[in-house]
Amino acid sequence: MDMNKNENKKEGFGSKIGFIFAAAGSAVGLGNIWRFPYLAAKYGGGIFLLVYIILAITFGFSLMISEIAIGRKTGKSVIGAYKEADKRFSFLGPIAAIVPFIITPYYCVIGGWVLKYLAVFATGFGKNVADDGEFFTGFIGEWSQPTLFFAVFAFLTALVVILGVQKGIEMISKILMPVLLVLIVGIAVYTLTIPGALNGLKYYLLPNFSGFTFSAFLKTLIAAMGQLFYSMSLAMGIMVTYGSYMRKEDSLEGSVRQIEIFDTSVAILAGMIIVPSVFAFSNGDPAALNKGPSLMFITLPNVFKTMKGGQIVGGFFFFLVALAALTSAISLLETIVSIVCEKTKMNRFLGTTICFVFVLVVGLTSVFGYSIWDKVTIFGYQFLDFYDFISNNVIMPVVSLLTCVLIGYFVKTKYIEDEVLVGEEKFRAKGLYKVMILAICPICMLIILISNFFLNL
Ligand code: PHE
Repeated sequence: MDMNKNENKKEGFGSKIGFIFAAAGSAVGLGNIWRFPYLAAKYGGGIFLLVYIILAITFGFSLMISEIAIGRKTGKSVIGAYKEADKRFSFLGPIAAIVPFIITPYYCVIGGWVLKYLAVFATGFGKNVADDGEFFTGFIGEWSQPTLFFAVFAFLTALVVILGVQKGIEMISKILMPVLLVLIVGIAVYTLTIPGALNGLKYYLLPNFSGFTFSAFLKTLIAAMGQLFYSMSLAMGIMVTYGSYMRKEDSLEGSVRQIEIFDTSVAILAGMIIVPSVFAFSNGDPAALNKGPSLMFITLPNVFKTMKGGQIVGGFFFFLVALAALTSAISLLETIVSIVCEKTKMNRFLGTTICFVFVLVVGLTSVFGYSIWDKVTIFGYQFLDFYDFISNNVIMPVVSLLTCVLIGYFVKTKYIEDEVLVGEEKFRAKGLYKVMILAICPICMLIILISNFFLNL
């Protein structure tokens, strides 16, 4: 019965590997290369890593398999999918759908920053970027250049989406993801040869429990959990949409495992490039390691400046980040285009053009938020930070919590288990899956929501 539903459905992925690369392309992005390393550096290296990996195999696995299964079972993008699963949850699709509409514009703005850095390194001026942050703040503090690079980034993204699922997204992911993997392994190996890097590697890989308090653990846990959502593109309808393009004959459980391994390995490798090199160049100074979001844009270029061959390594590095950001932006745009096209029955070209214009207009608020509108704030946040906060810390945990409730207590986990069994003989992690969806995931989501509320508001 489900098979029939999929037959007259929109275009889908042509191969299993195409699906895996495209979903991994969505998952692997700025979150892995920019966000993960600075969180790991800040939250004690090895301990963060350990907590993150445990969460990925339990939590991330259960949520991702649920989303992809709902998408494949219903053959619909997020709005239709939740409604078809259970009428009483019709409201959940639109809530999840809001997230990519919020994230896509500002994600493309940050993609533009990366393009700018790539351009600087590619033209041989990498050294100019290495300072105490004047270059970076000067660049984003003036609107014209960020707007230009943002528009170019958004345009490239739209081009791929216009080409469609197989000819655009699947093709580009199949080419770019292996390139990305080779690049990241190459740069990681190179940076580990820097004198002093091995001590940094120790800090990064080995958990150090001395002086580790319960409240530090809680903070690490919450940071790791937030990162997991972002990194695996969960709770925003992306995996539901990609699931709806997945072939029935391919194994769901196996694919999810591979996407997870891909995503987590890239994050760990990115950390392996950034944390040990910053550690080596700062002699393990906690202030350097605690830099947060500016670690990649300000601290790292300083490391490249002093590193042998840093100009070239830096060029390859920002090329890598640009590729990762592009495949993620494609998945974001594809999700909003599929929602718009499904609702209005518009064709892909028109739908993408309209969404592109939307991204440009809303993205400009983020660009201006750092420049000509830098006095304007929403609840004390700058535009970009506000979009990030409201999506990652508010809407996404709510969507995950409700998804667990929907599956665990309304349609029941069997709904997902049956779909997993369509392409496979056995659902190996069924026991784990049930415990996670029925109890552990919802409880964790509640903890995140409550603590975010107290920590941020
Ligand atoms: N998962 C992507 C990353 O790690 C980011 C992303 C977030 C992609 C939200 C799509 C949606 O950077």
